[in-house]
Amino acid sequence: MPEADQSQPAKDYRPEIAPRREPFFLKGSNELDWGMKNRLSSIFDPRSGRTVMLAFDHGYFQGPTTGLERIDLDIVPLTRWADTIMCTRGILRSSIPPTYRGGVVLRASGGPSILSDDLSNEEIAVSMEEAVRLNAAAVAVQVYIGGKSERQTVHNMTRLVDQGNRHGVATLAVTAVGREMTRDARYMRLATRICAELGASYVKTYFVDDGFETVTAACPVPIVIAGGKKLPERDALELAYKAVQQGAAGVDMGRNIFQSEHPDAMIQAVRSVVHEDTPPARAYELFQDLSHQPASV
Ligand code: R5P
Repeated sequence: MPEADQSQPAKDYRPEIAPRREPFFLKGSNELDWGMKNRLSSIFDPRSGRTVMLAFDHGYFQGPTTGLERIDLDIVPLTRWADTIMCTRGILRSSIPPTYRGGVVLRASGGPSILSDDLSNEEIAVSMEEAVRLNAAAVAVQVYIGGKSERQTVHNMTRLVDQGNRHGVATLAVTAVGREMTRDARYMRLATRICAELGASYVKTYFVDDGFETVTAACPVPIVIAGGKKLPERDALELAYKAVQQGAAGVDMGRNIFQSEHPDAMIQAVRSVVHEDTPPARAYELFQDLSHQPASV
């Protein structure tokens, strides 16, 4: 039996002070439930409202991509700098220490491999029960707007949204641009908006040089940009900078980090751009300085 509370003087209820009510920091997410908001806060840093997602899920259709041959040796040391990681359940279980404390975005669609001539023919590849068991903050699903498997991949996403909402797990819609599509603002506006309208918690898309701010403005939930193929570090930092300055809530970056000669330095420079608005020239200097220091283990 707990002891009766004998403390004196009378308890301090402060009835004159209204209860604290703070709007949730993420765009379009104020009406979500507590569990979903808590999970989104493990992806996006509430201090900046942005995220550096370290993506290394490429093996789900490409096998051991360059830089991902040994995730245990080369990627795990980088996770300390990431707000969240994006990977498959196989890599999470086999290679990521369960003591990792950041967010986990679980690749939840798959099917065709790089050997297939139709990469868009994906299905849901992880159950929501499994995602919850793995303590995922979000599940990630490719959506091919305008592609051969448009209907199927949109349906994959809406099923994950329904299941995720039931369990408080967010859904990241990854707008996959088929070879036949033009990567311009008009297409990105269409694809990201459709994903948001149909329930995605946040959307990943590609940066476009002309009119990217209209893509972020027209999307009612946060947008993160994919890093894409490996660029010189200075250019990748510039890409990240332009994206966040034009309304992106961060980056989901893989190859431009893990294929860098100095991945440890690169992810820290990317963090500085994303969370501190560091201009690319300064961030590149930071990258160079850090490149001369021994990488953290
Ligand atoms: C595609 O393979 C995955 O969804 C990647 O996570 C995504 O493309 C981001 O990686 P990267 O920056 O290498 O494009």
